[in-house]
Amino acid sequence: MPSVVVVGAQWGDEAKAKVVDLLGAEADVVVRSQGGNNAGHTVVIGGNTFIFHLIPCGALRPGVVSVIADGVVVDPKHFFSEKTELEKRGIKVTPERLLLSERAHLIMPYHRLLDTLSEGMKAGAKIGTTGRGIGPCYADKAARSGIRVVDLLDEETFRKRLDAALAEKNVLLEKLYGHQPLAADEIAAEYLGYAAGLRPFVRDTQDYLWTALDEKKRVLFESAQGTLLDIDHGTYPFVTSSNAAVFGACAGSGTSPKHIGKVIGVLKAYTTRVGAGPFPTEAKDALGERLRETGQEFGATTGRPRRCGWLDAVAGRYVARLNAFDALAITKIDVLTGLEKLRVCTAYRVSGRTLEDFPSDVRTLETVEPAYEELPGWTEDISKARKLSDLPKTARAYLRRIEEFMSAPIEIVSVGPERDETIWIGRGKR
Ligand code: GDP
Ligand code: IMO
Ligand code: MG
Repeated sequence: MPSVVVVGAQWGDEAKAKVVDLLGAEADVVVRSQGGNNAGHTVVIGGNTFIFHLIPCGALRPGVVSVIADGVVVDPKHFFSEKTELEKRGIKVTPERLLLSERAHLIMPYHRLLDTLSEGMKAGAKIGTTGRGIGPCYADKAARSGIRVVDLLDEETFRKRLDAALAEKNVLLEKLYGHQPLAADEIAAEYLGYAAGLRPFVRDTQDYLWTALDEKKRVLFESAQGTLLDIDHGTYPFVTSSNAAVFGACAGSGTSPKHIGKVIGVLKAYTTRVGAGPFPTEAKDALGERLRETGQEFGATTGRPRRCGWLDAVAGRYVARLNAFDALAITKIDVLTGLEKLRVCTAYRVSGRTLEDFPSDVRTLETVEPAYEELPGWTEDISKARKLSDLPKTARAYLRRIEEFMSAPIEIVSVGPERDETIWIGRGKR
């Protein structure tokens, strides 16, 4: 049984968590390799909604071990609040079932603060971050001034690294942002207080995963964010600060690409984006409102309304080539029910030219006009469909069109948030 990576094929919120939860039924290990509590991953079971931010949603499956791997940025305060929240709802979050990498970087109070202050200073060029300190934490990691989980377990090392970091951060806070300096003692007391609670969860997760793979355990990677938010390949600078595309799974967990057997792209049947940045097919009219209301497109982390629009095949082709998807999961197709005509953007027009490839330059992307093809919609309620033949012909044609431009077969169609509101196609289940 190959290891599977579940990747977001748009700007995040594609319903990756529903797909991970479905595949989790046959997994032994579920791994988060990148991002942090900027993610909002929703799973709905029998009317109960669970939203995961940092902890892998594999935690819902009793037989699964969840791993927060090396490449994730961890806010310890958040770790405990999410854990407590899950436990209140009857989900066991024990060190036997949840492993935290000693190599993962810690989100510090100054990261959260700098995230907000730096956004505030950007005036017209705000990214619209989640304000969780993600960017500043990854920036420190790259600058070699980050603090890792393993550092927190040794008081002397932690204090040394914290003092060194604060020497710089406090200058920045005071001189650039006019903010009062942060007290090292207060942060040390807070964080060292977390150490004892974290310690039982901390592991060499690389080693754990290598052994799991040697033992042919089924490892499922739960990517956060979406490919177009990838730091290297997304719509830079309107991206997150980690690799949200398939490669993040390997780099962030210490596993080789040779271990990846299958890459599944999750594509919402329309497009959404939360935060700033180019979005060629954005519908700023009644259609956008209609998609937002029917699809309940409000951020699972910040509650912000998501921007909505038609499917974009130019972006889709780019994302599909980048990730080399083996299969697709198409989600929220039920949200399109009742629209007389559906549109798919097949090319961009800019200054009299036609672009069929996704441009690297956001200035271009901001000015392009989408060229659309139209497909007929359907009016039948499809939420009870459980096999492809239960879907209206027009819905099947829409799905075929997606397979065509994504050059990958659809294995899962989601027609509602619940586990059973799913159509499995072909072999579907691994
Ligand atoms: P993720 O970040 O990719 O895991 O996605 P989110 O959890 O942020 O957003 C997906 C939302 O759509 C959640 O509220 C899900 O419960 C919901 N959802 C998932 N699949 C479907 C579906 O097929 N139809 C509808 N209507 N909602 C869905
Ligand atoms: P999931 O895993 C959608 C967006 C933010 C902002 C940009 C940078 O639920 O799909 P950050 O806080 O990461 O520095 O913000 O990225 N963003 C997401 N958008 N889904 C997410 O995660 C996101 N995580 C970050 O809105 O535009
Ligand atoms: Mg989300």
